[in-house]
Amino acid sequence: MQVVTTIQELKSIIKNIKQHGKTIGLVPTMGYLHEGHLTLASTSKSENDFTVMSIFVNPTQFGPNEDFESYPRDLERDTKLAESVGVDVIFAPSVEEMYPTNGGIVIRAGRQSEILCGASRPGHFDGVLQVVTKLFHLAEPTRAYFGQKDAQQVAIIQTLVRDFNFPLEIRTVPIVREEDGLAKSSRNVYLSEEDRRQAPAIYEALQIAKEHFLSSANVEESIQLAENHINEKTSGKIDYLQLLSYPDLAEIKNDTEQFLIAAAVYIGKTRLIDNIIFLK
Ligand code: PAJ
Repeated sequence: MQVVTTIQELKSIIKNIKQHGKTIGLVPTMGYLHEGHLTLASTSKSENDFTVMSIFVNPTQFGPNEDFESYPRDLERDTKLAESVGVDVIFAPSVEEMYPTNGGIVIRAGRQSEILCGASRPGHFDGVLQVVTKLFHLAEPTRAYFGQKDAQQVAIIQTLVRDFNFPLEIRTVPIVREEDGLAKSSRNVYLSEEDRRQAPAIYEALQIAKEHFLSSANVEESIQLAENHINEKTSGKIDYLQLLSYPDLAEIKNDTEQFLIAAAVYIGKTRLIDNIIFLK
């Protein structure tokens, strides 16, 4: 496995792979790898000839008061983990390498970014689309891999690919969880022992809402039950808890086929997100 930090090195590797007619899988990450990321990588490995993993804590998707500086980083550990699942190249550029000059050109995520995480984190999805667009151009993937953990992110990236005709397929991988149901996240390292004890209540609440909705079709009641569960089981603060159609992220109607129940909750100082996508 190679670790490259410059665009030039990455492009010359990609050129060579393409010349041999091989398929490329891209796994974009911000590092501090856990089983969620590694599942994306092994899925890519099984579906493509060559797997590129990017590791880049992207400053343009963090707000001014968010955790860009303190976001956990450990390239040495990540390199070993990525190698263990058969990643072929890690692309780990510096901020200067990715953003050498600021030309003032931005990509604005559309209607799907106005709610859920987009409402709490203004500009977040614009930054995600900026970095993902660059990564798509640089790695020229046949397929790119994203986790359902960030369901809104996948939905918005699907729209980007469709609307801007990127010649690649987006593949989604289910959420990888701890044994007690907590969704794996690089941010889980921020949790104190007590936070960690409370955190599984988020997924429990989502399941309660899903079950109630399936039997009652009542959105408000389902949300209320889930909120009650989080308020009883945690000292956390709910940022949002919503039941929407997926992937368009709009209000549920009679003809909605696929549903998203999604939550963001501050457990202590840590903002955790989770969701369930389900059919009627
Ligand atoms: P990051 O949070 O590092 O996540 C990288 C990828 O791993 C995302 O597609 C995310 O959905 C997926 N992932 C994280 N936790 C997961 C879990 N428990 N189960 C399954 N998949 C999981 O998402 C980002 O980075 C960034 O926004 C990025 C797309 C790299 C752009 O900077």
